[in-house]
Amino acid sequence: MIKQEAPLSAIKDIGFSQALQDYSHRLFLKEAPVLYELRQHTKKMPEGHMQITPLQGQFLGFLMQILGPKKVLEIGTYTGYSSLVMALSLPKDGTVLTCDRNPEWTKIAKKYWALAGVETKIKLILGQALETQASLIKQGQTFDFILIDADKKNYRAYYENSLQLLKKGGVIAIDNVLWGGNIVQQPLQDLTAQLIDTFNQNVYCDERVEICLIPLGDGLSLIRKKD
Ligand SMILES: C[S@@+](CC[C@H](N)C(=O)[O-])C[C@H]1O[C@@H](n2cnc3c(N)ncnc32)[C@H](O)[C@@H]1O
Repeated sequence: MIKQEAPLSAIKDIGFSQALQDYSHRLFLKEAPVLYELRQHTKKMPEGHMQITPLQGQFLGFLMQILGPKKVLEIGTYTGYSSLVMALSLPKDGTVLTCDRNPEWTKIAKKYWALAGVETKIKLILGQALETQASLIKQGQTFDFILIDADKKNYRAYYENSLQLLKKGGVIAIDNVLWGGNIVQQPLQDLTAQLIDTFNQNVYCDERVEICLIPLGDGLSLIRKKD
């Protein structure tokens, strides 16, 4: 495990002061070396802020350990940190199916999955995520856990498709639900914040699910499909 001496990236967990962030990394973060390497690689990229934070990643890995899902679906691979952190904590026969439309970023993901020795546990589908979900629904596939972390304008559609793909009692995790804190701006001018706010309100009123909020990273909601 890597001991963090300095902040890993400019991306912070929302609401954490720098001192609290440093403390949390020092005493709560245990990041496998391969994840640390991938984070260092991604940090240099212009879109590096898109990666989940290390504490969010560790939380997802912890969830995999306690829930023990066999089939995980991810919408939004980027350079593969979240798929890798989940794959590393899955049961032996667990798999991650991850979708993205960007071949360049996912090439980096594949490199690090192989370095970690979990390349057989992760399958990438390149293309528009809505089309991938539609095809999975058509095939009658089901999943135990789904992470949604792609284009925000499609969150509602990803969520509805995910409810179809999810087994009863399964969990959906959704990133960026607090949108850098802009979600409480008055008036709400940021268009993406408006979209996410409407999405959050719809999920809040949805009787098919139970919800909770993990205020790490940019805000991660956990949504359980009722039995
Ligand atoms: C926020 S990043 C995902 C970060 C990733 N979970 C991680 O921890 O590194 C969002 C990703 O969604 C992908 N994406 C955005 N819109 C998409 C779409 N319509 N279909 C497929 N992938 C999409 C982008 O290419 C990008 O890689």
